[in-house]
Amino acid sequence: MAINPPVDATKTPEWAALQKHFDELQAEGVDLKKWFAEDPKRVESLSFDAGDLHFDLSKNLVKPETLKLFADLAKAVGLEDRRKAMYEGVHINNTEDRAVLHTALRRPKSDEGKYIVDGQDVVKDVHEVLDRIYAFADKVRSGEWRGVTGKKIKTVVNIGIGGSDLGPVMAYEALKPYADAGISARYVSNIDPNDISEKTRDLDPETTLFVVVSKTFTTLETLTNAREARTWLLDTLKANGAIDGSEAKRAEAIAKHFIAVSTNLKGVEEFGIDPENAFGFWNWVGGRYSVDSAVGTSIAIVCGPKRFEEFLAGFHEIDEYFANTPLEQNVVAMMGMMNVWYRNFFKAATHAVLPYDQYLHRFPAYLQQLTMESNGKSVRWDGTPVTTDTGEVFWGEPGTNGQHAFYQLIHQGTQLIPADFIAFANTPNPAKDGDQDVHELFLGNYLAQTKALAFGKTADEVRAEGTPEAIVPARVFSGNRPTTSIFGDALTPFSLGELIALYEHITFTEGTVWGIDSFDQWGVELGKQLARQITPAISQDDEALAQQDASTQSLIRFYRAHR
Ligand code: F6P
Repeated sequence: MAINPPVDATKTPEWAALQKHFDELQAEGVDLKKWFAEDPKRVESLSFDAGDLHFDLSKNLVKPETLKLFADLAKAVGLEDRRKAMYEGVHINNTEDRAVLHTALRRPKSDEGKYIVDGQDVVKDVHEVLDRIYAFADKVRSGEWRGVTGKKIKTVVNIGIGGSDLGPVMAYEALKPYADAGISARYVSNIDPNDISEKTRDLDPETTLFVVVSKTFTTLETLTNAREARTWLLDTLKANGAIDGSEAKRAEAIAKHFIAVSTNLKGVEEFGIDPENAFGFWNWVGGRYSVDSAVGTSIAIVCGPKRFEEFLAGFHEIDEYFANTPLEQNVVAMMGMMNVWYRNFFKAATHAVLPYDQYLHRFPAYLQQLTMESNGKSVRWDGTPVTTDTGEVFWGEPGTNGQHAFYQLIHQGTQLIPADFIAFANTPNPAKDGDQDVHELFLGNYLAQTKALAFGKTADEVRAEGTPEAIVPARVFSGNRPTTSIFGDALTPFSLGELIALYEHITFTEGTVWGIDSFDQWGVELGKQLARQITPAISQDDEALAQQDASTQSLIRFYRAHR
């Protein structure tokens, strides 16, 4: 089925209406304090619930009527049609001629037979693989699956990079309280040998299982690390006297200590991993949208199949909400439109994501790939140049740590940085400091920061505290710095799935307004190609060196002089 051409959002009357609204707000003066005072229903009008997450958008630089304009623009650019096309498996990733079906990864079994895409019953295929993963995970967790010397697996080492690493490591960190089988995980991604050396240094090969994850099974970093891991495993087992050096024992060790996840099962076999021990996925799953596929096998092993099912159910909850909620009340779509608002109208170049939950400490890093690899583009899906700025820089760190580092710039710097604050009402680690509940102390900070950013502190308020006049300006907070508060009951597999799906669909919404194919990533290719070309020049290949530009030659000469 052909896809619709991108609509130039900036040429639509709906964009003009939003521009007019923006100009009027600027003329009136963006003033959250005033807007809160004038509209007692502001919080109610700008609060939403999706799944079991609660959203307060009231501290954003919008009025309730702005959402209607957002919804109008979303309709004008065809968000609803494109969303339908995505969910139904149309090849909306047209530069790679692929469907974009991560939503199928979390559909329940009851949806089998309903989504036949390119001749494939995708939900049936998904559940076949999930069932195999769950059976394998159960075996590892129960100890039925043992290493080559008969010992139970204690550590899973995931080897992958980008989407084959960032999602699993983020989810592992987030779901540590659910790791209930005495199995921990580690994640090796960088081709820098320091990474694998440090991650294997103190491991016992007899109790270690490597999961090699690569969609393509051609990625330089992952295959290099997987070969290093194989050498480490075989050499260390032999050195410890755990196996003899016979080919049969080596093959048995690899079979017991290596599994793989890939769309390229032929590549897996060529690497020497038994296809029986490989879990597939499909080219309609983008790497950065894949943590809920077999790419999450390490999570299924560590936390168990039931938790993984709950994780998928959380995604599905938000998928259904995004698909079925009218746009104006659809907080997922509205958050996407809000990001467009800040990026294109307020010219905000970055967007902070600040989880008030230490377990989410890798969430901003995960979002960087999701959002920036998706929307960091300058051409639209028909090859024409974009007509607006695109792709904010997403960044962040958990609160309260960030408060003592970079929040200064968010509070008093010269740029506008919209920020999402994420917290949960309950913690798995309740603590008291005297009579003080420490989680409440933590939440006090979560609430205080968005309040300070929204309402600031005037010079008069600063003076009233007895501040000497000379330093009053330094202590003034302008306020009107926009934030969205996301509040959940607890960080669980379900709510983590919800959060990920939320940002996936926010990213999709923004990409649709900009006319971008959010599912390709051609921008990562040139560097890979050049690395292949330059690497021979680094050692003594002077012919290859002579072909490099002057700066690269000079840097290589420095290397040669110092190695
Ligand atoms: O280079 C970028 C990229 O292709 C990402 O999109 C992807 O997640 C990552 O590399 C890893 O790719 P693979 O899973 O094929 O090893």
